[in-house]
Amino acid sequence: MGWPVMHSRSPALHNYFFKHYRLTGTYVPLAIPPERLQAALRALAPLGFAGCNLTIPHKERALAIVDEADDAARRIGAISCVVVRPDGSLWGTNNDIHGFGRNILQQHPGWRADAGPAVVVGAGGGARAVVYSLVERGAREIRLANRTRERADALAREFGSSVMPLDWEDRHRALDGAALLVNTTSQGMVGQPPLDLRLDLLPVTALVVDIVYVPLETPLLTAARQRGNPTVDGLGMLLHQACVAWRLWFGVDPEVTPELRATIEATLPRYAGSGIGDPGSGTNLEPTNPASRIPNPGR
Ligand SMILES: NC(=O)c1ccc[n+]([C@@H]2O[C@H](COP(=O)([O-])OP(=O)(O)OC[C@H]3O[C@@H](n4cnc5c(N)ncnc54)[C@H](OP(=O)(O)O)[C@@H]3O)[C@@H](O)[C@H]2O)c1
Repeated sequence: MGWPVMHSRSPALHNYFFKHYRLTGTYVPLAIPPERLQAALRALAPLGFAGCNLTIPHKERALAIVDEADDAARRIGAISCVVVRPDGSLWGTNNDIHGFGRNILQQHPGWRADAGPAVVVGAGGGARAVVYSLVERGAREIRLANRTRERADALAREFGSSVMPLDWEDRHRALDGAALLVNTTSQGMVGQPPLDLRLDLLPVTALVVDIVYVPLETPLLTAARQRGNPTVDGLGMLLHQACVAWRLWFGVDPEVTPELRATIEATLPRYAGSGIGDPGSGTNLEPTNPASRIPNPGR
């Protein structure tokens, strides 16, 4: 469920699993305006859904609607996955946190969150899952830079002294001596300008992660790769969180295989401004006005 939602790669991803595991079922994008979220979530059980995922802008509000949520979701303040329990009640969790760590570890098995200072840029929903995951994995110093300082302060208050909020102007200097850089802002997404960040002070050994996955290689990742930094794109995070959802919904534990990745990659533009999904192609841009893209959005 999202608003808008038609850009989502989740149907391609989950329907791949249905086919792969020969399960009868289908995953459908549900364009739900915020004022209908409660009714839509309550309709899942009578309609026979096993659960759903939630995306912008529903993650926070849904937490107040479900009957129960796990500790991680409550700490983060947002749910991204709902399970319909046998009695029809709703249970929520945040599977983005698992996606973030598992994705890095699959590509860099020796990675450790406590290897040195981490710089997280952004303090929105994605950042909350990233910071939670880093803290859980033992990160001792997380330098948090967000355009709106108050949001970084609020996140730091919630997650404790290892999270150090910074002024937005200090983001370039914060890279000095860092072992990890994570972009969690929407900058670098198709239709958005690149993240304005100078990498000069970032050690070339630092791992650079972008959770944006449209395009697959954001301008930040291109710049990092060109100066020799190891990089991780955001698609793996999406794939890994989907696996967590399948365990919860169907008791199946899928793997992120090269074939799965290739299937979803084929639907994504590789670089901003290249091929599938470019502005104008109508395949993945979130409309600024959802109603302009979704027929009869009120129904
Ligand atoms: N790979 C995955 O599985 C995954 C999971 C979650 C999210 N994501 C991606 O992560 C991105 C962010 O998602 P989200 O849910 O965290 O969104 P969000 O809650 O709306 O947060 C957006 C963040 O971007 C910052 N931002 C927006 N415009 C900016 C600008 N012009 N300059 C600097 N910062 C700016 C915001 O700063 P302010 O606080 O100042 O507004 C905020 O920190 C999206 O591309 C989303 O698709 C990927």
